[in-house]
Amino acid sequence: MKILVVDDNNFSLMYTKNTLIENNINAAPILCDSGKKALEILNATDIDILLLDIVMPDMTGIEVLKKIKADDRFKEMQIIMITSVTDRGTLKECFDLGANDFIVKPIELVEFTARINAAIRARESSEKLENALELTLKQNRKLNEVTRKLKETQSFLIQSEKLAAIGELAAGVAHEINNPMGFISSNFETMTKYIDKFKKLYQAYDHLLENINFTEEENHKDILQEKYSVIEYMENNRIAYVIDDLDDLLKDTRDGIDRVTKIIQSLRRFGRSNVEEEFSWNDLEEIIEESLLITNNETKYSADIQRSYQGLIPVFCNRVQLGQVMINIIINAAHAIKSRHTGERGLITVKTYSEAEKHIIEITDNGPGIRKEIIGKIFDPFFTTKDVGQGTGLGLSICYDIIVNKHKGELLVTSKENMGASF
Ligand SMILES: Nc1ncnc2c1ncn2[C@@H]1O[C@H](COP(=O)(O)OP(=O)(O)O)[C@@H](O)[C@H]1O
Ligand SMILES: [Mg+2]
Repeated sequence: MKILVVDDNNFSLMYTKNTLIENNINAAPILCDSGKKALEILNATDIDILLLDIVMPDMTGIEVLKKIKADDRFKEMQIIMITSVTDRGTLKECFDLGANDFIVKPIELVEFTARINAAIRARESSEKLENALELTLKQNRKLNEVTRKLKETQSFLIQSEKLAAIGELAAGVAHEINNPMGFISSNFETMTKYIDKFKKLYQAYDHLLENINFTEEENHKDILQEKYSVIEYMENNRIAYVIDDLDDLLKDTRDGIDRVTKIIQSLRRFGRSNVEEEFSWNDLEEIIEESLLITNNETKYSADIQRSYQGLIPVFCNRVQLGQVMINIIINAAHAIKSRHTGERGLITVKTYSEAEKHIIEITDNGPGIRKEIIGKIFDPFFTTKDVGQGTGLGLSICYDIIVNKHKGELLVTSKENMGASF
């Protein structure tokens, strides 16, 4: 501890110094006989406690105090004013300016040592506080850095688990697209044949029109002949049926194209990255339908899907992230059903309803369920019961993060062994 004693009276200075030393007060005194010099010393040296006389000729203690208090560097310094009985009136001003304590001249030993020791303790604890604060700030910075890195890793994980899911789904999605593409192309073949028939019919009509000539009697017979052959052509080529069928084919093809477009749109939307912050109003049932479409090939051979939608109102959410949640839970359900190996078709039920201002989506399967010993672990990152290459173990932990942290919702599971699971 360094104490600076400022007093214009040399006798007082010496007396103060001796008192400090004689009473073993843990502080090294620096003496100074004017306010100006005091400011110079303060600028050059770290002082913990300042003993400051009020009445001094060139610069009063109050003036020094004002300067010190205007400077942030000295804000932790303990300042004790030295006052004689005559200048008590200025004490209030000193406290207003930020002095911590005062000592009355002539100095009374017990009071003096008590006040100095109190100042030392105050300075020590403010120093401790400062150090603690600095440490906290440092740790805080470190923590922020760690959090930032974690966030980066997390969004990377979300994206890579999504890509893994896309990889897993890719074959199925290709199949899903192939199906409608199959009948679109076969419809196209048929329609090409139909158009050919129409072309020929058109030519026959055209010829007929050209030959019609009402003024020449004998021409009538030829026209009639041609008309019969057109009728015959129409009958042989079943033009009435073709016209009917054409409507069906066009509608089928339109539906097929719509389906392919939807699958591609869903997949593209699902695959997008950097959409962490994108929140908007969305129809949850539409997101479920999109997810069922993408996962159709995973589920259709092993399970029926039963929908029970209440018609939820739009919800403010991140569409891609919620899609990721649905897809993982649906695929988990399909995996669970397949893992029974009974050959029987399973059932996946998707139910939506509102209850107490909550929007609830329930995805239930009748697979083997989840054993009691592991149900507490399924939301842990990297927990999986699947073979290497089959599951990353990240799906549900990411679902949990998306629902609970990002959407402030709840993700719950119930399961009875051999009866299935419900999320
Ligand atoms: N519907 C379900 N039925 C039975 N077990 C499930 C079901 N959903 C999840 N699980 C269990 O939870 C584990 C973790 O799931 P998840 O985090 O999606 O990772 P992964 O699917 O890659 O294994 C699965 O390995 C499985 O043991
Ligand atoms: Mg999974």
